[in-house]
Amino acid sequence: MCGIVGYVGKESAQEVILQGLEKLEYRGYDSAGIAILEDGVIKSDKFKGRLSVLSDYLNDHPISGSLGIGHTRWATHGAPSDENSHPHLNKESTIAVVHNGIIENYVSLKEELIAKGYEFKSQTDTEVIVHLLDSIYEGDLLEAVNKLTKLIRGAYAIGVVCSKNPGEMVAVRNESPLIVGLGKDENFIASDIPALLKYTRDVCILENGETVHLTPEKVTIYSKDHEIVQREKFTVDWDVESASKGGYDYFMLKEIHEQPTAIRETLLRRLDENGKIKLDDIKLTKEDLEKITKVYIVACGTAYNAGLIGRYAIEKFAQIPVEPDIASEFRYREPFIDQNTLLIVISQSGETLDTLAAIREAKRKGARILSITNVVGSSVARESDDVFYTWAGPEVAVASTKAYTTQITALYMIALDLALTKGTITEEFYFDTINKMKELPEKVERILENAEDIKKIAEDIKDSQSAFYLGRGLDYQTAMEGALKLKEISYIHTEAFAAGELKHGTIALIEDGTPVIAIAGQESLYEKMLSNIQEVKARGAYVISIAKESKKEIEAQSDRVIYVPDVDDILAPVLTAVPTQLIAYYTSLIKGNDVDKPRNLAKSVTVE
Ligand code: G6P
Repeated sequence: MCGIVGYVGKESAQEVILQGLEKLEYRGYDSAGIAILEDGVIKSDKFKGRLSVLSDYLNDHPISGSLGIGHTRWATHGAPSDENSHPHLNKESTIAVVHNGIIENYVSLKEELIAKGYEFKSQTDTEVIVHLLDSIYEGDLLEAVNKLTKLIRGAYAIGVVCSKNPGEMVAVRNESPLIVGLGKDENFIASDIPALLKYTRDVCILENGETVHLTPEKVTIYSKDHEIVQREKFTVDWDVESASKGGYDYFMLKEIHEQPTAIRETLLRRLDENGKIKLDDIKLTKEDLEKITKVYIVACGTAYNAGLIGRYAIEKFAQIPVEPDIASEFRYREPFIDQNTLLIVISQSGETLDTLAAIREAKRKGARILSITNVVGSSVARESDDVFYTWAGPEVAVASTKAYTTQITALYMIALDLALTKGTITEEFYFDTINKMKELPEKVERILENAEDIKKIAEDIKDSQSAFYLGRGLDYQTAMEGALKLKEISYIHTEAFAAGELKHGTIALIEDGTPVIAIAGQESLYEKMLSNIQEVKARGAYVISIAKESKKEIEAQSDRVIYVPDVDDILAPVLTAVPTQLIAYYTSLIKGNDVDKPRNLAKSVTVE
């Protein structure tokens, strides 16, 4: 978490850094700060609160200078406060540091530094970095950072400037993401590409353990062993507009509305001229598949919920048993992994630390790794054997929407491809399913045409203490994602339950007026779902049903119904997810919450 931007050039560092940080607020937004070298002296301002607190202050008290670093924070060690905000400076204010990640051995380092007479102003782990640098600096900033990396342990992306080395910036990366932007007479560092798009499209990605030395004219990347590394730059081909709100009030609403295009792109870009799925970066042969005895799907948050749908699709189409697991649990439970294991990993950002750790653990034990990610060149992509890129475009809102539906689309495609290779489905079924998938974008568009109607439902539930999502089979998995969406941005306590399990305890929670959102998108389980709706209705629940449009009889049992177009059961999760996203969006909006940046959460979670 946390966002970093650094600039060395001829322009106003303040402006470049603030513009960049604005694009990184999804990484953390509980405080923000900046340090700029002005007339040979480092000036730094940092405040608890949104980036706007810092930028408003700097509007009235600008700092001039063309070398600087900035940071937007998501607190780990130490509550959000001015003191705990980055950058952190040494006593003489000659060195300033920004950091994303966690220094695991900071406690012992802090004790040693205190024993040497260093005074700490914050509760952060980061502050040890600046005092350590102070203690080892001998005039060469790069050399000091090299020594630093021998002393610290953990995940980090660090940017450093020093008033005694004007015109130089040094950064280092281990686990936490960091990219370098290349300009003319100016160079940049940042946690993510959108931060730099206004200034440059030419970027290099730093690998783990690498250090970079930047001046306005030159960028030099060094390996862990301090050898110069020749790194190819690449040119970003998506535009700034696709990373900005484009007329919508919130990124989340924009991203919900981008789903038809995102699903279409994810699907069509991987169909060849004969309409067959071509998985260019996935080289699983029939022989490889025959050897596979175990498939795990591992991910976090929304990506995990997409994996639950993927499990159904792979089991149904390819007839391979699949076990889904949350990455933070998987890595510690000693799963049965060997050379015959396929690990399918899902991650929008491709940088989630728990997910990365699961990859590494599985790889160590010989598993083959197939990842689904939205970010080209991300750590997850680079560490996998096979990669399926979703074509969702940048997703900025913390609550994931278009990444989810494109991940499900990707999983259907992988399941179909595996099944055809294995011979568990006929060509006829294969093409028929692809044709039905091609209709999904238009069906999502139809749901979105009535998006505003869902505002009324948000009005109905906005004051509730708690709400429940119910479903059976694939609808239960959708219920889990719907509940996550609603709780994370509306702050209403929401749980998802398997509708058939209600009677074993949960039904005790239903009171007069408790909102229950019942997902009834599975034809095969429809009758049973109706019975469960009646059970909660009889106990006073306020029932909002999500059903296929041909199922009008559900109206008799529901207070409100949201219809989605008819579709095969297996594909229904792509459609039934959309109303759940809109319910969450409008409830959060009506409650006056910051929809895109819900409290306590961050988009990219690069800590354990
Ligand atoms: C965070 C985000 C979620 C996301 C999860 C996994 O918790 O807030 O929206 O689903 O991380 O992220 P990933 O980038 O790995 O899909």
